[in-house]
Amino acid sequence: MNPTQNRIRLFEMLAGLLATQLIVFGLAFYILNEPARIAAAQTDILNVQLDEAMTLYAENCSVCHGLAGEGIGANPALNNPALQTMAYEDLAKTIERGRFNTAMPAWSKEDGGPLSDYQISELVNLIQSGDWNATQDRVVNLGLAPLVPFTTEPDPALFAELANLPDGATLQTAVTLFAANCVACHGADGLGTSIAPALNDPAVREKTAEELNRTVALGSAGTLMAGWSNALTPEEISALVALVQRWDEVPAGILPAPDAPIPTTEESIALGGQLFSQNCSRCHGPEGQGTQRAPALNVKGFLTDTSDVAIQQIVANGVPGTAMPAWGDRMTESDIQAIVGFIRQWEATAPEVATPTRGGGGGPPWLRNNTTTTTGQGQGAGQGQGAGQGQGKTQQPSASAAWWQTFDWRILLLVFGALSVSFTLIFMGFEALRRAPKK
Ligand code: HEC
Ligand code: HEC
Ligand code: HEC
Repeated sequence: MNPTQNRIRLFEMLAGLLATQLIVFGLAFYILNEPARIAAAQTDILNVQLDEAMTLYAENCSVCHGLAGEGIGANPALNNPALQTMAYEDLAKTIERGRFNTAMPAWSKEDGGPLSDYQISELVNLIQSGDWNATQDRVVNLGLAPLVPFTTEPDPALFAELANLPDGATLQTAVTLFAANCVACHGADGLGTSIAPALNDPAVREKTAEELNRTVALGSAGTLMAGWSNALTPEEISALVALVQRWDEVPAGILPAPDAPIPTTEESIALGGQLFSQNCSRCHGPEGQGTQRAPALNVKGFLTDTSDVAIQQIVANGVPGTAMPAWGDRMTESDIQAIVGFIRQWEATAPEVATPTRGGGGGPPWLRNNTTTTTGQGQGAGQGQGAGQGQGKTQQPSASAAWWQTFDWRILLLVFGALSVSFTLIFMGFEALRRAPKK
């Protein structure tokens, strides 16, 4: 063989070797990578499903099962470990068909409900592996939050007076229960709200005890009035019925309006900020510090004395006879609540005394620090129990896992592959040089 043929042979051999190496390492990399790729794709699908399910939950289920699946009255909690481990089929069937003779309606199209099988499977995933805190945020962001029963404290002096009435102890029990369970819907002193009728009302007093008892125990199908028989004892329910029937004897003012903070999320506060600068800042100043046209909102006195509900009412109804417009006709309830949440987060840094802006000054620097404060406000209402952690999120290796369980073997493969290919190339270069015909 002459040297040229010799070199060609060598190049052929080495090129073959190189190609084999590339194929072997490529294949091995693909095989090792495949499970991770499939897992990532599955996680993506699951996340999309969970995201859609949170909206479905907010629109269809939160009314009865609560902001974060915590349950309301006799409507059971869904953030419950028993449901997480329940067979998929059984859980899907409960949602598809509802529970006969209870307030739980059938949801599948097949059974006359509004949801497709796919949507129901998404809801099953949410209940079994979703994140209830994120769901609570979704419900709040969609403005579907206010239906959570929030509570109030009975006025202590008037509460003590009740004891002087005949069977006062029963009325006291009932007032306490009403303050904890019913006031959010049925209103201060039982005078009703936009979502539920007055119970402190002559027409209701005329109903028989049996009739009222049945409504409280079993609820009123197809309305927000849940049955309370799982949450309250028969004695407690009769006490409440006695209160409804004897409300004309109960002193007015005993059950003040609930003063629950409006739940907020990062998104709702951001929306509130945007709406505030578009609609309110020209009169109240960009930082709520007030102008010649309207008083400061960003002051301690105002914020401590005025509850969220009260601010919401002022904004919705305006202040008649002043320049303060009624925003209720122009904004949705959830927009107004977002603004209230935005105003409330000033409280932590609000000055005692306002320094109104003149013109577009912007105010002293401490007024601009507001955005960095977080008040953690509003999370109180029905916190999710942290149920459904783990599965929905990617499987994070726990800190105690051995290193070889968490080590990504693909790195080793890549290093070996790269090394062996470079060695082949270097070898090829040297051989070519060595065999080069000497001049
Ligand atoms: C009108 C009120 C109401 C609405 C709306 C509602 N539920 Fe229910 N749900 C109930 C009641 C009441 C029960 C308890 C039935 C019983 O006693 O077995 C229940 C039970 C359940 C159960 C079984 C819980 C268990 O522990 O066995 C699941 C799951 C459930 N609901 C899911 C949903 C989903 C998902 C939605 C929204 C698509 C929804 N519910 C909407 C009232 C409601
Ligand atoms: C989530 C809101 C909500 C909560 C909480 C609630 N209710 Fe109701 N309640 C309603 C609605 C809505 C109706 C009207 C139902 C209808 O139109 O049939 C109603 C109706 C009633 C009625 C029947 C009134 C009538 O005219 O016959 C009684 C009695 C009653 N509720 C008592 C209670 C008691 C007691 C509690 C607390 C243990 C309570 N409710 C909690 C929403 C609620
Ligand atoms: C055209 C000017 C104007 C605009 C725009 C305006 N306000 Fe007002 N606002 C007023 C005036 C004037 C008052 C004081 C009314 C009074 O004398 O009680 C007021 C009062 C208030 C109060 C009660 C303050 C207190 O100390 O009692 C709140 C809360 C409030 N406004 C919020 C808002 C919000 C939120 C917006 C935007 C959605 C807004 N306002 C837009 C003029 C305005």
